[in-house]
Amino acid sequence: MTEAILLVGGKGTRLRPLTVHTPKPMVPAAGVPFLTHQLARARAAGVDHIVLATSYLAEVFEPYFGDGSDLGLHLEYVTEEEPLGTGGALRNVASRLHSAPGDPVLIFNGDILTGLDIPALVDTHRTSGADVSLHLTRVDDPRAFGLVPTDSTGRVSAFLEKPQTPEEIVTDQVNAGAYVFNRSVIDTIPAGRPVSVERETFPGLLADGAHLQGMVDSTYWLDLGTPQAFVRGSADLVLGRAPSPAVPGRCGERLVLETADVAPDAKLTGGSVAGPRSRIGAGARIDGSAVLADAVIEPGARIRDSLIGAGARIGARTVLDGAVVGDGAVVGADNELRDGIRVWCGAAIPAGAVRFSSDE
Ligand code: GTP
Repeated sequence: MTEAILLVGGKGTRLRPLTVHTPKPMVPAAGVPFLTHQLARARAAGVDHIVLATSYLAEVFEPYFGDGSDLGLHLEYVTEEEPLGTGGALRNVASRLHSAPGDPVLIFNGDILTGLDIPALVDTHRTSGADVSLHLTRVDDPRAFGLVPTDSTGRVSAFLEKPQTPEEIVTDQVNAGAYVFNRSVIDTIPAGRPVSVERETFPGLLADGAHLQGMVDSTYWLDLGTPQAFVRGSADLVLGRAPSPAVPGRCGERLVLETADVAPDAKLTGGSVAGPRSRIGAGARIDGSAVLADAVIEPGARIRDSLIGAGARIGARTVLDGAVVGDGAVVGADNELRDGIRVWCGAAIPAGAVRFSSDE
């Protein structure tokens, strides 16, 4: 298999900036735009031609990734005038594929970080003789997901909407957002109108007797739907829990980009990143967090599981835990921000303005 389609469009809700100006697929995770990891993983699995199917933002992808040759890829970009849904987006780029009708084409969602064994999914597809093969993952709480039960051979038996009652939870297997389609199946998706693969294409194929094969692979899997998940994903890339050939440097407790200026007694742990030209002051403690380009962390700040946007400034002794601070925002000294708080781009919080713990 040499071709893939990467889905990076949609109505925008899931791609909306994480309170940072950069669109989500381009927000750095472990030092490079998140999309780089997916592209590099596909390349490592033998893919050399990838079509990015988007409904907007082509203008940010193309200047950065160009023709893909830096990654050893041939990249093409197709922009929908109106979002066509996941299935419509596939159909819309079909003419760009070089594959013959029976050839497998890899499809992957742009907002999933995974250690999926891509060659194993392709092998499953080949050996089972399926029309479409899907990566399935097991989740602890399936209530937020569409369920994909399979029979004892792994063949998909149904696509079930999000379960509403305990009885409806018939499996913990969910669609993990990576597929192998036979090229000919892509060509049968209706053109020119929105189509959802999960709600229309897959159930329709099952009803027509097509063979859909599930491959349960319990490798690293994270849906980057929330800013907190994004922070987790960046840290897991740095720690090496989420495998990616695109992490710039060795995996470990921290990733300090060359141009970052980190005080000798500042401590970065838990997969934290110090982005280009960032400055981290004396005694600062940063755990499981991403500090993006040009951000400044003043002495004594304590930052955990947080994202600090480009050019933002965090004042001395300020405590952040589970916070997202937008690009260029300023959080003054001696604040305490916790639990999913999002500080908008360019906002300013004066010194000593917010705290959660007692005043002592
Ligand atoms: P549908 O199946 O079309 O209803 O989308 P969904 O809402 O189930 O998809 P989800 O939001 O889970 O997105 C899955 C992936 O597809 C993400 O990477 C999205 O960026 C991408 N995506 C969703 N809708 C579109 C679309 O209309 N066009 C394109 N090009 N990509 C999309």
